[in-house]
Amino acid sequence: MKTLHQNPTEPEFVQDPYAFYRAARADGDLQYWADYDMPAAFTHDAVQCILRDRRFGREVPPEMTKPGPAHLAPWLAIEATSLLEAEPPRHTRLRALVLRAFTSRAIGSLAPDIETLCHHLIDQFPSDPFDLLDAYCTQVPVITICRLLGVPEEMAPDLLNWSHAMVAMYQASRTRETEDAAARASTEFADFLRGYIDERRSDPRDDLITRLITAEEEGEKLNTDELIGTCILLLNAGHEATVHALSNGVKTLLETGSVDALFGDALDETVEEILRYDPPLHMFTRYAYEDLQLYGHDFKRGDQVALLLGAANRDPVIWTDPDRFDPSRHIQTNTSFGGGLHFCVGAPLARLEMRIALPILFQRCPDLSLTQAPEYANTYHFHGLTRLEVAKG
Ligand code: HEM
Repeated sequence: MKTLHQNPTEPEFVQDPYAFYRAARADGDLQYWADYDMPAAFTHDAVQCILRDRRFGREVPPEMTKPGPAHLAPWLAIEATSLLEAEPPRHTRLRALVLRAFTSRAIGSLAPDIETLCHHLIDQFPSDPFDLLDAYCTQVPVITICRLLGVPEEMAPDLLNWSHAMVAMYQASRTRETEDAAARASTEFADFLRGYIDERRSDPRDDLITRLITAEEEGEKLNTDELIGTCILLLNAGHEATVHALSNGVKTLLETGSVDALFGDALDETVEEILRYDPPLHMFTRYAYEDLQLYGHDFKRGDQVALLLGAANRDPVIWTDPDRFDPSRHIQTNTSFGGGLHFCVGAPLARLEMRIALPILFQRCPDLSLTQAPEYANTYHFHGLTRLEVAKG
């Protein structure tokens, strides 16, 4: 295992992490990433294998948990109820309850509404040039997830602010200010949802929050804190990544002259290739739960390992000419939605939004063009643009 040095906030890396991944992958499955002080998996095989290996997990091993700093208490309280941070049996129970409420019928039935929403947003586009990230790519997922949960759409700006403040905790650029903002946002978000969940208890509707409450009342014990944590996870995860999957996709389609691919019979292939080629989330970590040897490395219980989803997606063992965007590529499972127990609950919804929003955008705006070279935000492990300035022509 080689030792690699790469500051994840270095501008060149932020703009093109794939060059680093390529070099790392060429040296083997696992390398020690000094800046994160942990081994990191860069190949498709290693990333998929560790995602599926039950000897690794996301939940901090009990003997390693320590009380967090007081100023972070509200954020840590939300994290403590998140199914994303849990392993079985807690994870099994929480995920089953979410999946029961997050049915494919509920998701499929959103399609006509998403279509109408896309047209409505396009009708309201500002004059050229304008930021498509703000006017479209952000609005589609955030309004859709509000509707699915049953949260008023007028809350979308607050949800965006709370969510951005909370997920900034996972970014390499985290500071004390980030922590204070995340704690404030967690308190406000939880207070809002506590009131809102109370309303739904006495006035049930046909929405996800009501279904989550019902699941609780059927004796499956989603307590109020778990309900709040689950709703926050769904609201945050429900748009943070999809926003950037859409905008990275628009960028790629325009830069590679591939817009036509949306209109043949290869829409699914095109959406998968967008997700493979430039995914919005690049790295997740796992803890080892026992001493074990893997890819020639001795893991001790409690050791962490980084899984580079963005690197796995460009592995030449799986994809021919992986650095080329090829929307006609035969679909092979990419790693953008993870794998194993924590595989993304929202993958069908994210794919549905992409399959609807991208063709409608280019059908309505066939001359859409970039008016400025887009830049990625310095928010690794998130991989999304700062803005996406375009003209309709
Ligand atoms: C293109 C958009 C999306 C991408 C790339 C994405 C990616 C991911 C990834 C990689 C994970 C697993 C993390 C890990 O293994 O450590 C995950 C988990 C999750 N995602 Fe997504 N996601 C997207 C959209 C969504 C949407 C729309 C929702 C909800 C409506 C959602 C909800 C979740 C939840 C609840 C989990 C936790 C699952 C668990 O721990 O069992 N995601 N997502």
